[in-house]
Amino acid sequence: MDLVWYLDRAAGLVGYAALYLAVLTGILYNAEGFGSITDTARRIHIEVSVFALLVLLAHGILGVVDTWFIVVGEVPTPAYGASYLLGGVAVGAGAFLLLIVGVLGFLDARRFEWPWTPRVVHAFTYGAFVFGTIHAAAVGTDLVGLLRPGLIAGVVFLVYVLLLRTLARLGIVSTADGVSS
Ligand code: HEM
Ligand code: HEM
Repeated sequence: MDLVWYLDRAAGLVGYAALYLAVLTGILYNAEGFGSITDTARRIHIEVSVFALLVLLAHGILGVVDTWFIVVGEVPTPAYGASYLLGGVAVGAGAFLLLIVGVLGFLDARRFEWPWTPRVVHAFTYGAFVFGTIHAAAVGTDLVGLLRPGLIAGVVFLVYVLLLRTLARLGIVSTADGVSS
């Protein structure tokens, strides 16, 4: 049972890192003026995303087993209590569902009717990332001291890149392509 817990946490942490990279490469996918960074993002976005989805699927399955052991009293309840844990797990499940809907937007482009274009549906992945971050910060156990500041810094960096992409699109700043060599 300890093994389930360790594997679940490991998959959660690796999955979160991969999800982060999926969002970052997604933002850079159609960014203008980011030069070779955009090329790299295009090359790895789908691979990184599929990896994130698989690891998070494993994390979700192990997470259900882990939560079950806690509910039936096989393993001790975390210090924050069972109902808090269940709430946190529900947020994680919501994040995973949003992720699946977002990805389906591209994989099955005709499933959703206008105005739910593939791009719009794919943007659900932003929601998945936000809920995934809340879930990780809420139920993450002993890594909290490292996890929370790390999560905040990570999210701030993503917002910064999003902003930079918007400013580059509007022609207000020039990025890599704009630098003369
Ligand atoms: C973990 C799963 C995934 C996440 C978190 C993710 C995230 C993102 C994000 C945040 C964007 C930027 C959207 C924007 O603001 O412009 C994006 C763009 C994109 N993604 Fe994904 N993605 C995932 C899976 C996939 C998959 C499986 C595919 C292909 C089948 C894909 C193809 C694309 C393409 C082509 C773009 C650029 C398209 C555009 O902006 O119109 N993504 N992704
Ligand atoms: C986008 C989806 C998800 C992401 C990014 C994610 C990420 C994480 C992360 C980073 C942790 C913290 C690990 C630690 O420091 O201890 C965690 C914990 C946990 N997650 Fe998720 N998760 C997701 C979905 C799910 C789902 C679908 C479930 C189950 C239905 C779940 C159940 C759990 C449980 C039970 C824990 C606590 C493990 C412990 O006892 O420490 N997660 N998750």
